[in-house]
Amino acid sequence: MLTFKKPKIKDLLPPPVRAAHGEYSMILSSADDPARPTPELIHKCLAAIHAALDIDLSSLSKRLARPPYFPDIWPGEHYKLLAAFAKTLRPSLIVEIGTATGLSALALKQCAPGQIVTYDVIPWNNIPTSVLTKADFGPSFSQIVGNLGDPLFFASQLDVLKKAELLFIDATHDGHLERTLLDHLKTVPFEKPPLVLFDDIRVWTMLKMWREIKEPKLDLTSFGHWSGTGAVQL
Ligand SMILES: C[S@@+](CC[C@H](N)C(=O)[O-])C[C@H]1O[C@@H](n2cnc3c(N)ncnc32)[C@H](O)[C@@H]1O
Repeated sequence: MLTFKKPKIKDLLPPPVRAAHGEYSMILSSADDPARPTPELIHKCLAAIHAALDIDLSSLSKRLARPPYFPDIWPGEHYKLLAAFAKTLRPSLIVEIGTATGLSALALKQCAPGQIVTYDVIPWNNIPTSVLTKADFGPSFSQIVGNLGDPLFFASQLDVLKKAELLFIDATHDGHLERTLLDHLKTVPFEKPPLVLFDDIRVWTMLKMWREIKEPKLDLTSFGHWSGTGAVQL
């Protein structure tokens, strides 16, 4: 019997170049994008890009057992830009969604003047590649374990979330969780309108979510993560 195997995108469009890691993406016109960045958002991002030039994350890289030392790679990796946003915006609370290894949380911590709360569905000490230690935690740096995609858990965290002035969303990158998180965030009575940074906005599964955002937004990929970094002003 003849069986038809559905072709995969990688068979139809093999990558034209070799790279350690590649992702499928698409470039899209901006004239019909539903949102434009405001001058205020552009200024905030330029200030962070400028500050990133002088940020040294070599002590964070030392926590890695072997290269590549991602925190030192900038642009291309997002760690220095994240630290720079913590430095220039001076947020009293930063909320991260997606702790994983702790690299981005520690990059933020290096320059954060206030508090950081990082969420994950997996406790940091259950992540074999974690660079975090017990000594990193204290009143200004904590992890909360839970799924913010769950409306009940999200509602239980409102007292924390409403104080956030900078949020970094680095979770599943499937586009669905990110859209749900953004919808939930729009219901939060924020004390100050926060800046939301999204990782991986250029990855295929994230394209639709990013495109459909109607709030002021700016694609910062050239100064952030090669897979896409985007800023949204709520
Ligand atoms: C790409 S990793 C984050 C990388 C991290 N920022 C770093 O620097 O190592 C994604 C993380 O998001 C977590 N995650 C997935 N869904 C989540 C959710 N609904 N709420 C919180 N964290 C979630 C995963 O468990 C995973 O640890």
